[in-house]
Amino acid sequence: MISFSSKDYYNESGTLLLAKGAPITLETLKKLQQYKGVDLSEVNLNCESERKKYVEQTRKLKERFNVTNDLVSDILIKILFESKHKPWWMYINTLSNYIDWVYTHSIDVAMISLIIAAELKYSKKSLMELGIGALLHDVGKLLIPKRILQKTHPLNEVEKIILSQHCELGMDSITGCSLSEASTNIIIQHHERLDGSGYPNKLKTEHISEYAKIVMIADSFDAITAGRPYRKARGPEEALSILKNQDEKFSNEYLEVLETILT
Ligand SMILES: [Fe+2]
Ligand SMILES: [Fe+2]
Repeated sequence: MISFSSKDYYNESGTLLLAKGAPITLETLKKLQQYKGVDLSEVNLNCESERKKYVEQTRKLKERFNVTNDLVSDILIKILFESKHKPWWMYINTLSNYIDWVYTHSIDVAMISLIIAAELKYSKKSLMELGIGALLHDVGKLLIPKRILQKTHPLNEVEKIILSQHCELGMDSITGCSLSEASTNIIIQHHERLDGSGYPNKLKTEHISEYAKIVMIADSFDAITAGRPYRKARGPEEALSILKNQDEKFSNEYLEVLETILT
């Protein structure tokens, strides 16, 4: 569902930036963010439909995980529905109006990451940073052509290269959005792997943040269990064993926590 502007927005010299009723896109948000006088929290957004989407998504995920964790739900609700005044929140809203599976995947990854971190007794502040970064981990996909994201067959080599740019594009997009370094690290590092085989910077374990190590597991686990247009979904046990068979790439400690949650 697309959001529409609730009023006219002007810059300091009186030039119209966004007219009332105009659709809110990634480009218009970027334009508005450049002007200090514009209060982005006033932009009219379809929160109620987002809340319904979130509730439905939570139900599906709880079925897959068979867990309930009020702390995790509280953190996610705070990020999704009570952070409209934060500059980065506009990207969460834009994601929610983009390709459906990209948004539901983002919520799933945030929830799985938070469940792991809550099990590890992370503080509320750390859970917030982790949750925000996990929700926005694929924000760079907003700049990847839809025909690539929605392709129903495996990607060719050129398309894979274009898609792999979403980490850097995501980090560039959120520059100036007052996102913490911990959250930003998740966006740029979630496709790195502990043995240095990941991208974009082939970082090894000591240079990858702990948050990103959690999110890379949640991201891969969700991609395997939720399936993709060209790949059927697999069960949680099979997904876990696929990840455990790559223990040089993923943190054993966090995989064990995930296993505990699943059993
Ligand atoms: Fe990604
Ligand atoms: Fe992802």
